[in-house]
Amino acid sequence: MSNLPTKARIFEVGARDGLQNEKVEIPTDIKLELIDRLVDAGVTALEAGAFVSPKWVPQMADTKQIMEKLNRNDNVSYAVLTPNMKGFDGAVAGNADEILLFTAASEQFNQKNINCSIDESFERFAPVVEAAKAANMPFRLSVSCALGSPFGEEILPSKVAEVAKRAFELGAYEISIADTIGVGTPLQTKNVLEAVAKEIPLEAIGVHFHDTYGQALSNILMALQVGVNKIDSSVAGLGGCPYAPGATGNVATEDVLYMLEGMGIDTGIDLEKMVRTAWFISGFLGRPPVSSVAKALKNKFNINDSTSD
Ligand code: HMG
Ligand code: MG
Repeated sequence: MSNLPTKARIFEVGARDGLQNEKVEIPTDIKLELIDRLVDAGVTALEAGAFVSPKWVPQMADTKQIMEKLNRNDNVSYAVLTPNMKGFDGAVAGNADEILLFTAASEQFNQKNINCSIDESFERFAPVVEAAKAANMPFRLSVSCALGSPFGEEILPSKVAEVAKRAFELGAYEISIADTIGVGTPLQTKNVLEAVAKEIPLEAIGVHFHDTYGQALSNILMALQVGVNKIDSSVAGLGGCPYAPGATGNVATEDVLYMLEGMGIDTGIDLEKMVRTAWFISGFLGRPPVSSVAKALKNKFNINDSTSD
């Protein structure tokens, strides 16, 4: 274990992945307060929203207003999702610091999520990438279904590595290897990440794990052992993709923080503030966080539970 990193970068996806699948309308001001609280806790990279079709994902329809009203902190990178040039134009108009492009290792999921094949997604990315480079806009690229597909196709590590390599060659600074439906297990995670690491530098690999089967922390531990220390997570374990049937939330940021702190791995984020933020957004949603750590620390931090008010 001596090769474990001493620092990890958390990308907070709660305001986007976390909320995109919620059925109740979440007021823009609540999203803005969530973002403020995440920043106050020490988060330096977060997804603020998505410039996607509001017909496809209604919950992200106020991303323009979010970007206009953000209380910006210069130390924070505010990212948005952009599936195409229309999304990129929104990102530029909204002064996003960076963008996330997204494709998948599963053809079927890509069709359902962005209405095109993997090859076509790269064709769509080409003008976005050209414009992003001209505008000095850094971009990450997410590879969904890297550890399994909701449609039962077998996802080979070599396929994930091939898509990751194409993404890296486009110029993405980070390729986020995503377990969209939270089915992966640790040895599988190791195999996939090692296959990817044969094609692109370790420093360019990130992980984005949903926690449907409760494997995300174990998979993150495996990722750390492989040498990957860029982790996406979502406060309170919120999240899910409307086009990934059966998928539940992302790994909870507070669970990741607790594990990393216990292992002496620094993130710069305050665990207590993150737990308070988890209870804040859960209070609005009217249900407790799924996070074990948020529940375990509620009494210690004297947090008022308003999830059933
Ligand atoms: P399409 O229907 O093929 O696109 O959808 P289109 O170009 O024919 O446009 C259809 C309509 O959408 C038009 O409007 C466009 O103007 C509009 P209409 O004429 O019908 O009124 N449109 C847009 N509106 C706003 N912003 C845009 C935009 N683009 C077109 N950027 C499209 C293709 C990609 C647009 C659609 O499939 C879409 O928006 N998909 C997004 C799905 C999504 O957001 N999924 C969740 C995020 S990904 C995720 O959660 C996975 C991740 O977390 C990693 C993991 O866990 O795996 C990242
Ligand atoms: Mg996701």
